[in-house]
Amino acid sequence: MIPHPPLATRYAGTAEKPAFVNQLFNAGAKHYDGVVDWGFLGTGAGYRKWALHRNGLRPGHALLDVACGTGLVAAAAVKILGSAENITCLDPSEGMMAEARKKLPARFVVGRAEALPFADDSFDFLTMGYALRHVTSLEQAFREYRRVLKPGGKVLILEMTKPAGRIGEFFFRLYFGKIYPWLTQLFTRSPEARDMMVYFWETIDACVPPASVIAAMQAAGLVDVKRKGLMGLFSEYTATKP
Ligand SMILES: C[S@@+](CC[C@H](N)C(=O)[O-])C[C@H]1O[C@@H](n2cnc3c(N)ncnc32)[C@H](O)[C@@H]1O
Repeated sequence: MIPHPPLATRYAGTAEKPAFVNQLFNAGAKHYDGVVDWGFLGTGAGYRKWALHRNGLRPGHALLDVACGTGLVAAAAVKILGSAENITCLDPSEGMMAEARKKLPARFVVGRAEALPFADDSFDFLTMGYALRHVTSLEQAFREYRRVLKPGGKVLILEMTKPAGRIGEFFFRLYFGKIYPWLTQLFTRSPEARDMMVYFWETIDACVPPASVIAAMQAAGLVDVKRKGLMGLFSEYTATKP
């Protein structure tokens, strides 16, 4: 299952999607932290740490942060783990990872969720923050998550989900579809940063519903699959490797 249909205005088909997404994040990387900081009113670091702690990340865990980007999830994890020595960060974008490297001395690996370059049973905890929309196959990514986790290991996926109600969707569409990209252009003067935020909205708008994500996690052999919704906007998907 694909997380959303190919976006014809952006790339021809699923085969072309990874190159498009990579170029998009490489081009916007140096603006990413600033834009998500004010765009979410400075709540991002606190929320990521809270979500990690609430969902069971504990000192001593070996953590794999898939789609680490500029390292915002991994930096929050350091506050729980006490150091970055047990953190592995993976991302296909060299530009995003260059920003993450400035923040923390974790192990950095270039790669994609669908083909993780790690041995079976390697990690206690696996995170993916705001990147599920960018994979080319949900089941393939989730099969890889199951493979690299130790038995009993946990997956935590943070995502944005379009509100179900019409009023919520109206305001969500207005802010993320129009106001946020416009403010991004105004503050950064970067068309690349603006485009990154336009694409952010386009993929949320087109994304499959939570029930499909849950079904794909179950199809990949993960158990105890759950979704917790917060404020009608945020989704936390959790699952365990049997
Ligand atoms: C919106 S950023 C999220 C960064 C970070 N996790 C956070 O919480 O802010 C999305 C990241 O997903 C990465 N990405 C895109 N396709 C991917 C894939 N197939 N596998 C893993 N990461 C991918 C991008 O390079 C980008 O760094």
